[in-house]
Amino acid sequence: MTGRDPEEDAIRLAAESLASGDPVGWFERLYSESETGDAIVPWDSRSPHFLLTEWGSPGAGRALVVGAGLGDDAEYIAGLGYETVAFDVSESAVRLARERFPASEVRYQVANLLEPPAEWRHAFDLVVEIMTVQALPEPLHDRAIARVAEFVRPGGTLLVIASGREEGGPVFAPPWPLTPSEIAAFTVKGLEKGSIEDLRDGERHRWRATFHRPAAQNS
Ligand SMILES: C[S@@+](CC[C@H](N)C(=O)[O-])C[C@H]1O[C@@H](n2cnc3c(N)ncnc32)[C@H](O)[C@@H]1O
Repeated sequence: MTGRDPEEDAIRLAAESLASGDPVGWFERLYSESETGDAIVPWDSRSPHFLLTEWGSPGAGRALVVGAGLGDDAEYIAGLGYETVAFDVSESAVRLARERFPASEVRYQVANLLEPPAEWRHAFDLVVEIMTVQALPEPLHDRAIARVAEFVRPGGTLLVIASGREEGGPVFAPPWPLTPSEIAAFTVKGLEKGSIEDLRDGERHRWRATFHRPAAQNS
């Protein structure tokens, strides 16, 4: 036990990172400080997200897990039979995920969602985005959403799980929960809306949404 408040660690590190003009540097600091007990990763549940496991699988093929953190969602997706690539901007997160799952068939990779490898465009049958866009400051959401959408191949599916807020609602960042119009914005880059679930549980507001790229679409 460290006696630390995990949310405070994230808020402190994010504030320092953002003040220096770096919107993503705090993730590496958070994961590396978690190894020495100097911080706690607040979203580290050591299990796949329940809205992912409840969802089931739409098929098979290649999957990409965005902002994969310590790997639980990626391992779950690989267990469904997908050939899975999982990436995170934090080198420590990627290393820790590999160490946690040494026999894993998931290809863990360091990459930045805002500047992803070109070969990932239209390359995945299933793209899983859980709470990564919302971890970025609001002005970066449009760009991050467009990059996520571009990963989906023709005939493929995007699953988005995120915290939600009303349009123009208050933000106590991080995170920057997604508004209805931001969820609708995943239809950029040729994706079509599947199901959008607006899930309320007391104070908690979450989205689970799917989007599809028509099979015949090539650009
Ligand atoms: C709120 S955490 C969610 C982690 C995981 N998806 C989960 O649901 O447990 C956001 C994750 O996205 C990663 N991340 C943030 N910005 C990123 C970026 N630009 N590119 C790739 N990963 C990013 C962070 O390092 C962190 O692991």
